[in-house]
Amino acid sequence: MSQSISFDPGWVEESRSEMPSRLDRALREDGFVQLHCADFDWRLTRRVFDQANWFFGQALEFKQTFAYGSAAENFGFQGLGDEALDPTTGVPDVKETFTMRNVVHREVDDHRWPSTDFRQTMVQFYGTCFGLASSLMRCIAAIGSLPEDYFVSAHTGENVTLRLLYYPGSVGGQPSFGSGLGRFATPEILAGAHTDYGMMTLLFQDDVGGLQVQSMDGSWLDIVPQPQSVIMNTGDLMAHWSNDRFPSTSHRVRRNADVARLSIAFFCDPDSKTEIDVLPGLKEEGREVRYVKTTAGEHIHRKLVATHAAAAGARAKGSVD
Ligand SMILES: [Fe+2]
Repeated sequence: MSQSISFDPGWVEESRSEMPSRLDRALREDGFVQLHCADFDWRLTRRVFDQANWFFGQALEFKQTFAYGSAAENFGFQGLGDEALDPTTGVPDVKETFTMRNVVHREVDDHRWPSTDFRQTMVQFYGTCFGLASSLMRCIAAIGSLPEDYFVSAHTGENVTLRLLYYPGSVGGQPSFGSGLGRFATPEILAGAHTDYGMMTLLFQDDVGGLQVQSMDGSWLDIVPQPQSVIMNTGDLMAHWSNDRFPSTSHRVRRNADVARLSIAFFCDPDSKTEIDVLPGLKEEGREVRYVKTTAGEHIHRKLVATHAAAAGARAKGSVD
């Protein structure tokens, strides 16, 4: 990981704040930055980790009661081997997830949630992350001399998604839970190499580690967890908007220890109808335009479906029992 900066969400109040130029410098290296956010609600974050630990610790039959419906809905539980973030390997990811898209502006039936506490905690945390993301979006708008709410207004929540990710521990090189759930060809890679789809991702991780970012020379660099910090990385659509000023860099999760790992991702993805084109204010001088116009919905849906299809293909070939 390249950079680490303090980020104060109240930066907008300061005239002549250096925050935009600081964030610009940090993101230009590889699109990854570790933000130290002293004022973030870390007690709430702890409660989210506690709820996630409780949920993933339940029997598989219970978790499957809250099964993921479809990529169009993007809500619910997915089990071991249900997704392959790197479709080229033919090997699915070794993780369980609980995905929650647009939980503030969309009614999700009570029975889709594991408990009332879980629901309340997640909805509150979704709102808290949205606040931090909005401040970052305004910061990026300032970098590109764009109207303050240029990016905020493209994110009503339609595609904004909170996701809990659980990577099981290991016994004898195999996932330590769920008999008969699978043998994986490369169990040391828990989530395959991929780029994120949207504008940016905020990632909270426990102290187990394992997240790696690919450097220009192809080698993998560890992102060491730091207390009271959130990892921000720019995704495919931000790379498009900025003509790669802010790159969408490949990353993966490697097994770092035999104990389970838990992380929480907040995907800040634009509304489906948003037209994505290179923005002159963010484009670096002298670099030719690398992208053709698309819409956010087209890109996000295509990527989601591809990761599920790749996992289904791997299951059919017998990578997963
Ligand atoms: Fe990712």
